[in-house]
Amino acid sequence: MRTIAVVGTGYVGLVTGVSLSEIGHTVTCIDIDEEKVKRMQQGESPIYEPGLSDMMSKNIEKKRLFFTTVHEEGFKNAEVIYIAVGTPEREDGSANLAFVEQVAKDIAANVTQDTIVVTKSTVPVGTNDRIQSIINENLAKNVKVEVASNPEFLKEGSAIYDSFNGDRIVVGSNSEEAANIIEEINKPFGVPVFKTGIKSAEMIKYASNAFLATKISFINEISNICERLDANVEDVANGMGMDKRIGDKFLNAGIGYGGSCFPKDTKALIQIAGNVKYDFELLKGVVKVNQKQQGLLIEKLKERLPDLKGKRIAVLGLAFKPNTDDMREAASLVVTEELINAGADVVAYDPIAMENAKKILNDELQYANGVEEAVNGSDAALVLTEWDEVKNVELDVFDRMAYPLVIDGRNCFSIEEMKENRIEYHSVGRPSVSSDSRQAITR
Ligand code: UDX
Repeated sequence: MRTIAVVGTGYVGLVTGVSLSEIGHTVTCIDIDEEKVKRMQQGESPIYEPGLSDMMSKNIEKKRLFFTTVHEEGFKNAEVIYIAVGTPEREDGSANLAFVEQVAKDIAANVTQDTIVVTKSTVPVGTNDRIQSIINENLAKNVKVEVASNPEFLKEGSAIYDSFNGDRIVVGSNSEEAANIIEEINKPFGVPVFKTGIKSAEMIKYASNAFLATKISFINEISNICERLDANVEDVANGMGMDKRIGDKFLNAGIGYGGSCFPKDTKALIQIAGNVKYDFELLKGVVKVNQKQQGLLIEKLKERLPDLKGKRIAVLGLAFKPNTDDMREAASLVVTEELINAGADVVAYDPIAMENAKKILNDELQYANGVEEAVNGSDAALVLTEWDEVKNVELDVFDRMAYPLVIDGRNCFSIEEMKENRIEYHSVGRPSVSSDSRQAITR
């Protein structure tokens, strides 16, 4: 077992540190945020992630997991240092590497023994070579530091599960010895390790996220064509997915991808390609389609309610996907803003993300304590996140609406059931349940 330091306790760093302690390593997580470090020392997770808090408490108690704000303390005795600080998006779409470069300098100033530095943060191709140079140029002691790339593929909401059940662990290194040590560290996870060069490892991360984003934008475009032709995109995706070369995952049409990775990484890869004078046309299309897709939901609403002024609109789900409180690049940011600008009274409900939402969404947004309260008396309900609580709601809850018009951006409900319950229902890429079965809207 190894002594490990993890710099940065954002989503990636914290899950990495906690999982490594769970398999027996001694891990010190370092963050500059004192308040956050204090909370983590008590076993309190700063993010909502199923299973994370319990695993933190357990390993803190076993004295395998520590948190500190002091770099030297974390680096002391560390055989391996993971870099997991943020690489936020710059205005031009490129990744801002200031935090990563600062950590490289801190490492160089503080390490006292030979160390392997493992980069978990998603960084443009070539960055690990730069980290190696920064460290070599600034080393305070005469020790050897090897840099390796070990990109992260965890999904929010199932990160702990994914740590032990991932499809692969990618290790990019110029040093066979370093790669072997990283492989050995990860062995207890029981996940296959793929070893390659540093630049290829860096590229695997971007290419994987860009490919998944492409799958989503592709099926979203197919869904828009299906709507015009009266075909059902769910059946189309199921039929396509049976071909093993295509695969049945990531073919759910909806209001586009959000979150901390896909939007940022697709734009960064376009930049990376541009820097070497390559125009990544396909990926530019993927990004454009994703932006368009969020707007289509409002268009559907406006087709039914052209004037939204004074209309009460329920919004079900705010997080960028279920089982997370993460609001980064969530479709709800765009959709709620448009509704409010159009003069609607917007009442939102999300099982977990409301506290986060309150910090960033428009102040005019109102919040409900449940689906029932949100839809009560509303003129339309928009579904933005496919939470189980929304999917499994008793459909008679929509009887509480002033008129039962449901516009579902996540295909949560069966068309047949909506028809039986006489709910006007529009979803993504599937036939609508029209208002014919009800009296026309008179308001
Ligand atoms: C993603 C990658 O899956 C993960 O490997 C990487 O490390 C980080 O980025 P995450 O952002 O947690 O993980 O979410 P993911 O479950 O991949 O979903 C991303 C977005 O795509 C969500 O907004 C989701 O709603 C959307 N999506 C996903 C679809 O619209 N359709 C799909 O079929 C799948």
